[in-house]
This record gives sequence, C-alpha cells and structure tokens, in this order.
Amino acid sequence: MLSRQIASKLRNFETPFYLYDTALLRQTLESVVYESKKYGYKVHYAIKANYDDHLLAIIREYGLGIDCASGNELRKAIEAGFDPRGIVYAGVGKRDKELRYAIEQKILAINCESIQELELINQFSAEIGTITDVALRINPDIDPKTNHCIDTGQADSKFGISYEEVLEHAAEIKKLQNVNFVGIHLHIGSQIRELHVFENMCNKVNVIIENLERLGFTFRFVDVGGGLGVNYDVPENEPIPNFASLFSIVHNHLAVGDKEVHFEFGRSIVAECGELITSVLFNKTTATGRRLVIVDASMTELIRPALYGSYHNIENITSEEEHNVKYTVVGTACESTDVFQENVSLKKTRRGDLLALKSAGAYGMSMASRYNLHDLPGAVYSDEL
Ligand code: LLP
Repeated sequence: MLSRQIASKLRNFETPFYLYDTALLRQTLESVVYESKKYGYKVHYAIKANYDDHLLAIIREYGLGIDCASGNELRKAIEAGFDPRGIVYAGVGKRDKELRYAIEQKILAINCESIQELELINQFSAEIGTITDVALRINPDIDPKTNHCIDTGQADSKFGISYEEVLEHAAEIKKLQNVNFVGIHLHIGSQIRELHVFENMCNKVNVIIENLERLGFTFRFVDVGGGLGVNYDVPENEPIPNFASLFSIVHNHLAVGDKEVHFEFGRSIVAECGELITSVLFNKTTATGRRLVIVDASMTELIRPALYGSYHNIENITSEEEHNVKYTVVGTACESTDVFQENVSLKKTRRGDLLALKSAGAYGMSMASRYNLHDLPGAVYSDEL
C-alpha cells in the first residue's frame, strides 16, 4: 500500500486524513473498462461510496455512468460533469422535490422502488409535461452471503418492489401514461465475495424478465447493481478486484438477449485506493490488561468498524521496531463502540507514530460525521504529492 512507501512525506499533513492512491484508482478503472468492454457491459459508479471531487474527476475520464441514491448525489454527479443520460437514481424513500428534480434532469432511469413511487413519478411527470424513463427495482429474494447489515435483496428487505407485487399490479402500472419502462434493476447487497451468488441472481433475473415480458412489458436494459467485494484482510494480495470473474459469470448465466447489461460498482472501484492515516495519541493498559492504542481518528472519520463490525487491516507505517505487540486500537469519540480493531498485531507503537487503516476509500469519507464536533478529515492525493 502506498502509505508505507511515502510515510515520511505524510508527516507534513495534519492527521487524520484520507490518502488516495490515484494511480491505483486509474488501474482499477482501466481494468473495469477493459473487462466490461469484452461483453459490451455498461458500468456506473455508485457515488455513495465516495463523492470526493478529485476522485470523481478521474472516474469521469473513464466514461463511467453514475448510480446515485439521493437528489444531492444526483446534483453532485451532474455538477461533476457526468451526463444525466448515464445516471440512474435508486432509493426507497425519494422526497417529492428529489423526484421532481430527477424528472427534470432527464436521467437514464429513476430506479423505482414501490408502486406508490411509480404513481407519483407518473403524476409529477404529467404535471411537468414529460414522460419519464423508469426502471423497476425488483427485490429478487437472494441471499448474497455477506454481512447481514449490508444485504439488500432478501424477501423482507426494505429495498425494491417485491416481485409478487409487480405481477399483481402489472395491468394497472402498464396503463400509466407518463412513465416509460426502460429497465429492470436489482442490487442484492455489498461486499460479496462468494461470486456464485451472482449466478443465483442471474437465474432469478432470467425468470423475472421472462414473466414480465409475457405480461407485455418491454425493457431495454437490465441493471444488476453492484456488490463485488474487495479483500479487506490482505489488500496487498488483491489491490484490483476481480471484475473479469464477475462479468464472465454474468455473461454465462444471464439470458437477456440483446438487452444492455448495466452494473453499479461502488466499493470495488474506490475501496482499495484509500487509506485513513491517523496519529497515535496515547498508549495505556486497562485494568484487565488490554493494551490500548488511542489514535486521533475515530468512528467519525471511519464508521464501518463501529457500525458493522467491519475489519480494516491496520499497519504502523512509521515504527522502526522489530517486534510486534497485540493492541486494541480505539478512537477519540465518546462511544464505547468506537474501536477500530481488537487484538491487532502492530509493530511496537508509540505516541506520534502514524497508522494506516487500509481499504478505506469506499464508505469512509462519505459516511463521516461531525459527532463530538470533530472536524471532517482532509484528503491527500498521490498525484498532488
Ligand atoms: N447500487 C445500489 C442500489 C446500492 O444500494 C449500492 C450500495 C450499490 C449499487 C453499490 O454497491 P457496492 O458496489 O459498493 O457494493 N456502507 C456500507 C455499504 C452500503 C452499500 C449501500 N448500497 C459499507 O460500508 O459496507
């Protein structure tokens, strides 16, 4: 990882901050573009993973579309120069003003998550005097074999419209005059490492499309969402996720004829290019003998460990010590769950050392908060060093 190679330079910046390896981001984008082109697949970047302007400018160079999850994400994408015709917008609870804004922007599709939402899009479109392209986000009821906190496509999930409900209301929704059904959308979850899950997803999608087409719907594209996982355990072994394997699975199992196939990748594009760099403030040992390293970052900069029990590989990038010691690395926030990792083996760690929390480019900065009135962390880009 980059931080270790340039540790001395990193001393010049106020911690905590995100370090972005833009060369790795470019290699990742080259890989996803190269592999997707083999099959003519379209790739959107899920902007919720990281909406940093510098990174967005790089991502835009590679011709990706955008997947967004709020009106503000949509605005951000448009302001960053992405073509609205390459933007999809999903979300279970879109507010009226967000829907009106999306309708006016004439985006590729509003990924619609309930019958009521569909009726509202139809009503707003009629008021505005337009016809809006929509994709039906269907809940496919698939177990993505990932952390339960980040699965999104099981029967009881809040996401998407149940397949049964679509079938039940097919006749009435087909009558809506101001919406145009252009696609089917689904997203089964995130950080999926067992790729055979995508095979189950394809089999399900084939059945869904066949049945909907039998009912008279026609679709131009199938958007199968994101979800490709990254290697949090040993990121050095797999800095670029395996897009080729996922595409090959989809190619072999999705039977959608000449329909376009779209993906929405967040984590797999940006996770590995980001590291959270933090300084060690203090060491202490609890009455029970637990050796704590207290760093100047916290759940306010990177909430994933506290929120989902997620693992981020941590390394002391400045210690010259030979021996490793087991520590619990904790943050500064007034919350007991503000623990980055228990029992982590680090080179002997002292006040002032820099630690890198790896694979933090996705859902790190974009989930940062100002709890305890912490400042938001800064960003350092390798191409500006
Ligand atoms: N499309 C939709 C509709 C989504 O909801 C998501 C992520 C994506 C695409 C991108 O998924 P990805 O390729 O990144 O797996 N904050 C959590 C992850 C939440 C994911 C939300 N949806 C985390 O830190 O693990």
